Amino acid sequence: MKKILRIVGLVGAGVVFLLACAATFVQVRGIPSYDPPRLRLAPVAYTPARVEHGRRLTMSVCAACHLDRQTGRLRGQLLRDIPAQFGQFYSANITQDRQHGIGGWTDAQVVALLRTGLGPDGRIRSVMPNFGRLSDEDVLSIVAFLRSADPVLQPDATPSHPQEPSFLGNVLANTIIQPAELPARPVLQPNPADQVAFGRYLVTSRYKCYDCHSGDILKTSDANPEQSFGYLGGGSVLQDAEGHDIVSRNLTADPETGLGDWTPEQFAQAMKYGRSPSGPLRYPMPKYSLVTDAEARAIYAYLRTVPVIKNATPEDGAAAVATH
Ligand code: HEC
Ligand code: HEC
Repeated sequence: MKKILRIVGLVGAGVVFLLACAATFVQVRGIPSYDPPRLRLAPVAYTPARVEHGRRLTMSVCAACHLDRQTGRLRGQLLRDIPAQFGQFYSANITQDRQHGIGGWTDAQVVALLRTGLGPDGRIRSVMPNFGRLSDEDVLSIVAFLRSADPVLQPDATPSHPQEPSFLGNVLANTIIQPAELPARPVLQPNPADQVAFGRYLVTSRYKCYDCHSGDILKTSDANPEQSFGYLGGGSVLQDAEGHDIVSRNLTADPETGLGDWTPEQFAQAMKYGRSPSGPLRYPMPKYSLVTDAEARAIYAYLRTVPVIKNATPEDGAAAVATH
């Protein structure tokens, strides 16, 4: 008996020792680096149409994280919506400053970052969302805009703040957060005349609503968004501007806990201006004021086709929670 206990004790000590080694390794290694991606890119034509389309996309998608409202420039800031247990993360300076922004990056390097998550130095930009399924035309439009004379891009010599991951943040950066491959084929977007297919593109690839609106921010799938846990059923816990928990809402067509009883107009008001029938929507729900009416209609049409999930979130009130 004693002998067995001793063996169990030794095995236990061994496991603890191995875990301690792994923990030290993760903490010392921090956020890992990989071989920087090598992307060949034909020279990008900065046409006025692309610059304008890119402005709309950048201000709708990237500005939510990168725009510093004090200076009105895309010079980066603390991301307050990330739960504190992961650490503190800061978006980067993406103004045209050559040293502290991305003025010195080539177009291919910017595209490679959006596609793979890796910078020219090979470091993974772990909190930056992956834009692997954004169409080539959308990506090139964003690049064209980033090279334009728009005031939000004027060089700002503030260095990007280093990331401050917690131990848990480091573990995630060394395990589930991985760089993506460069797309093997051209990435095309569906014809906007096909409302549902276009809406699906907007939700999964352009605006990435599912990142926040599925069941758990750690269980979303970049490769197959629709395989994300609780796809669009709400329930992800984020943080509001004061650092309190805030739960994303159910966007599926369940009439009680989702958007089943909403009109297209109510939906457009909520998405564009943060006006929900239940009251004003708080940070971090972005205000998509630059989405077109056609985009809002397409997203609404697509959301009606998504498998319905019954998931009451706090705004549904106690009655609905009880039925869950
Ligand atoms: C959810 C927030 C978020 C969104 C949305 C976002 N980014 Fe970022 N981005 C980050 C963070 C955080 C970093 C810094 C990551 C790091 O250093 O590890 C970053 C880094 C970058 C960098 C690298 C800069 C450098 O010097 O390393 C570029 C370029 C960039 N983002 C461009 C964009 C563009 C273009 C978009 C829109 C298509 C966008 N980002 C959308 C959070 C975001
Ligand atoms: C950064 C995370 C984030 C992203 C990205 C995001 N949302 Fe939200 N959204 C939220 C949060 C959090 C709430 C709840 C806000 C509150 O409780 O005040 C919300 C609320 C909503 C609501 C209100 C639902 C209701 O029942 O009142 C709608 C509609 C909505 N979002 C649609 C969208 C759409 C469409 C997209 C993509 C185009 C999107 N959201 C992208 C975080 C996000």
